[in-house]
Amino acid sequence: AEDGYDLWLRYHTPAATPVRNVPAVEARGDTPTLRVAAEELRHGAVLFGTSPPPILLATASDRDVAALRLPLAALGDEGYRVGQVTIGGRRTLLVTANTDRGVLYGSFALLRHLQTGGSIDRIALTSSPRVKLRVLNHWDNLDGVVERGYAGASLWDWWTLPDFRDPRYTDYARANASIGINGTVLNNVNAKADSLTAPYIAKAAALADVFRPYGIKVYLSARFSAPIEIGGLKTADPLDPQVAAWWKAKTDEIYRSIPDFGGFLVKANSEGQPGPRDYHRSHADGANMLAAAVAPHGGIVMWRAFVYAETDPDDRAKQAYTEFKPLDGTFAKNVIVQVKNGAIDFQPREPFHPLFGAMPRTPLMIEFQITKEYLGFATHLAYLGPMFAETLASETMRTPGETVADVVDGSVEGHTLTGMAGVANIGRDRDWAGSTFNQANWYAFGRMAWDPTLGAAPVAREWAAMTFAPSAKIVDPVVAMMMGSREAVVDYMTPLGLSHVMATGHHYGPAPWVADLKRPEWNPVYYHRADKAGIGFDRTKTGSNAVAQYAPALARTLADPATTPERDLLWFHHVSWDRRMASGRTLWAEMVHDYDSGVGYVADMRRRWDALKPQVDAERWAKTATYLAVQEREARWWRDASLAYWMSVNGRPLPAGAAAPA
Ligand code: GCU
Repeated sequence: AEDGYDLWLRYHTPAATPVRNVPAVEARGDTPTLRVAAEELRHGAVLFGTSPPPILLATASDRDVAALRLPLAALGDEGYRVGQVTIGGRRTLLVTANTDRGVLYGSFALLRHLQTGGSIDRIALTSSPRVKLRVLNHWDNLDGVVERGYAGASLWDWWTLPDFRDPRYTDYARANASIGINGTVLNNVNAKADSLTAPYIAKAAALADVFRPYGIKVYLSARFSAPIEIGGLKTADPLDPQVAAWWKAKTDEIYRSIPDFGGFLVKANSEGQPGPRDYHRSHADGANMLAAAVAPHGGIVMWRAFVYAETDPDDRAKQAYTEFKPLDGTFAKNVIVQVKNGAIDFQPREPFHPLFGAMPRTPLMIEFQITKEYLGFATHLAYLGPMFAETLASETMRTPGETVADVVDGSVEGHTLTGMAGVANIGRDRDWAGSTFNQANWYAFGRMAWDPTLGAAPVAREWAAMTFAPSAKIVDPVVAMMMGSREAVVDYMTPLGLSHVMATGHHYGPAPWVADLKRPEWNPVYYHRADKAGIGFDRTKTGSNAVAQYAPALARTLADPATTPERDLLWFHHVSWDRRMASGRTLWAEMVHDYDSGVGYVADMRRRWDALKPQVDAERWAKTATYLAVQEREARWWRDASLAYWMSVNGRPLPAGAAAPA
């Protein structure tokens, strides 16, 4: 059935070209990774047409490859080169690299090339990742519930592990390897200490065994208070020698079962999680203690900068910078600080996090949310490629031309430990991600982690060609739908820099009116600050002065509403409802216009999808069609509820020409 299980790894026979010859695939050297690479190519045999050349998989150390004197050194550990060569007088399609992992990535690149309509003649594919750690973060609890997961229960069946290795784990690894993901954090950042007990280490080790041939390392989220909860100690103070010794022993125990264990991810002193600050120690004290435990094994610590604790009295957006910026240069060499793309929390749009560029002596990795906690869960179609690309291309204005991507790939600050994390949208649904189009976000995350400069549209084109068919008839309209879809969500949920106006707790649906929750910053009114005169959060000197956390040149731009990009206007400024916008409309009329255009975009996606019915298999077509209907209904709900509320605050009528709420 066309239920989406195959993701973008659909190696289908175009009806017109039956397979006549299966290509001969030879792998030089019998490693598990070369074996799975060869297997994958055989699996995709049909893509090679009627007279495929023989395929050779071999690393640079192979005698025949060495004799070709190809410039392979620059490919590094994971890069690949695919092209036709002559070996022993025979034309051969060679997939080569310095390591067998590189060969695996090259094999997937070859398949992608064919799946997207490329031909074998004159094929020349060369690529190396620009980012070292390309990691999924599963927010999976040990009871099978996925925090902010909308695609069913956790993939990991802790009850039947470690004995039963569901073949699905292999398919998960194939999908990840095909887009270059090389690490996975198995458990929720809101971690339970149990995940570090012997039975769970054995389960994680079984998964690591399945993933290893695919170049994927396993990491675990570590609960900082584990020494107390499962170690019987009285404290988890990172400077207590007994605590450090406990973590060292625990880490050694993990490495005995998982020799290539990647290391720990830690959420500390945030949203109720324990951490070093409970003992008046710094985040660096905590991170460095764990780093010392994993260092002898080559492991790393990913320490999150998402600290959301007792409110910064004036602005939640300032907390991470306030706590982490002073720690620059104090982290151990194998620590990387993991920073969300924006300073609040995975909103439909956020300006880039001010920590990027502000901690030059500390490797920073960026964390995106692939699961759509604040963008309509699984049902709303929102392609996140443009959001990833927008953040990565943002200029920090620290040094000329410097972008967030330049910080993330280590190039401006000279770091070699670099990374990108994506909060996974994967669950046990047959289609893995809750919808066909959500698969595109997993895909885009991997591709952009490999190369942050790829661009959202080319990635969408690849995905659409692989997922549907390599034909302009389907790729063009699908990509056209995708490219504006995230902006449409911004328009009908949080236009012009608004944020966090979602309903309490679950974050689904509008609730800008909520004002009575215990902590001020739990309330949407804290974020939009609408009153009779105007709307928006003043983050300039007259307000929280969060703009001062950016580089001086950028801070100056953002300090003035006239030079602030309109898309971020209400994020940085409280302005009058009558403010004149670039369009000539007032701010109020502009907001109404944006809500309407968000709704209009969704209605239009429905029409475009309807027109594609003849070209998409019935099952995948119908599910998307239904979801688009849900999305249109809910986009209207967002618009109408939001406008009704704003009107109750500003006392204004709808501008002439606006669509009246239903
Ligand atoms: C968000 C999300 C939480 C999550 C947190 C985090 O606040 O709502 O569920 O735990 O991010 O990133 O740690």
